[in-house]
Amino acid sequence: MRETNFIIENNARHLWHPMAHPAEMQAHPPRIVNSGEGVEIVDIQGKKVLDAVGGLWNVNLGYSCEPVKKAIRDQLDELPYYSTFRGTTNSPLIELSYELAEWFKPDGLSRSFFTSGGSDSVETCLRLARQYHKVNGQPERTKFVALKKGYHGTHFGGASVNGNQNFRRNYEPLLPGVIHLPAPFTYRNPFNTTDGAEIAAAIGRLFEDEIAFQGADTIAALIVEPVLGAGGVIVPHETFLPLMREICDRHGILLIADEVITAFGRTGAWTGSRLWGVKPDMMSTAKAITNGYFPFGAVMISDKVAEAFESNKNSVGNIGHGYTYSGHPVGAAAALATLKETRKLDVAANAAARGEELLAGLKALQNKHELIGDVRGKGLMCAIELVSDRAKKSGAAKDVVQKVHDATYEAGVMVRTSGANVIMSPPLIVTAGDVQTILTALDAGLAAARA
Ligand SMILES: Cc1ncc(COP(=O)(O)O)c(C=O)c1O
Repeated sequence: MRETNFIIENNARHLWHPMAHPAEMQAHPPRIVNSGEGVEIVDIQGKKVLDAVGGLWNVNLGYSCEPVKKAIRDQLDELPYYSTFRGTTNSPLIELSYELAEWFKPDGLSRSFFTSGGSDSVETCLRLARQYHKVNGQPERTKFVALKKGYHGTHFGGASVNGNQNFRRNYEPLLPGVIHLPAPFTYRNPFNTTDGAEIAAAIGRLFEDEIAFQGADTIAALIVEPVLGAGGVIVPHETFLPLMREICDRHGILLIADEVITAFGRTGAWTGSRLWGVKPDMMSTAKAITNGYFPFGAVMISDKVAEAFESNKNSVGNIGHGYTYSGHPVGAAAALATLKETRKLDVAANAAARGEELLAGLKALQNKHELIGDVRGKGLMCAIELVSDRAKKSGAAKDVVQKVHDATYEAGVMVRTSGANVIMSPPLIVTAGDVQTILTALDAGLAAARA
């Protein structure tokens, strides 16, 4: 490794960062994170902070998960790569497919298809949804329904069902035949109410109306996050997902649960679908499946969808989709170790308990700081929305949000900002003391922005 000065001088000079303007990155280079231990990270200046971002919603077990590191090291020695395209497979992958079928049994999902990350998993779900209907003799079912404010990664399919214009406008035209419904968002919605159940019912009516307009026999699938993450941690009313499931069932539309964030305990339940008592037809997962240590994802497939493909007798059922790194043996070994540790540590229970403490603490901060317009969360995915005027709900200025971020960091905690939202998704192994550390630092950050 080159010396520190070299690294600092070349920061953002020869690479473009995701989700950032290259000129802005050159003017204000990003923080250089050099190491991680437990729930903390250390930057190049040697400053240690608690990582309330959890990497990017993915380092659920923290940075020192030795069993996962060891599994990766051992697998690199044994077999660092081999393809899983037709004709070959590998042992850890077969074992992983068995473990995942057990893990997702309560969600009614029994088959897996492996990918290199969340966007790949979403793309796989969308493509398999269309193919499912072709296999079933309904080739005109090609359209997708999604939610505004939903986030589904950045492939063209994912961007097309994405509900935030930041990820769409500069890449248009996107896929035709995608319909967006309003998000189940109590703080901002077009229904002039803050009642979650009313909002859920209103979205249900719009969905039905759209189905009647488009023709049910043209719609392949509805894709939703059980708790909307990157869109600002939007927690739907408990009636929302069951209602969407029921409408999908009545019209032969598949339900895709995008659980790239929620699949392994983050909401306090083992999956977001289980949280709401719903069984999806397909589920996209990634991120915490390897604790973020290896780029990997899995699409989980229901018995109904599996049966259609597996009983197909012609080439329509042939899967013309997949990636060089689908079923990577090192990723599979990492995932096996991660699942074992995740279950052993019962992180879903900790996420539920610590999440309640974090949410209560954020609500207390809202009473203290005018800057906080709204507080939202479920388990260890929480957000505060910053406003310049509470009555008008006008979003806080960019420099104010940046100040909160920087001052919180100075006070010892890394948070993530997205628009006017401050998002927190710490590792699921945080202690009650860690939650207090996050709240104390955020309090200091909010106070500094007001000063
Ligand atoms: C719900 C959801 N779907 C898909 C993705 C895309 O995953 P990736 O960034 O691994 O491609 C994300 C990433 O945050 C996500 O939150």
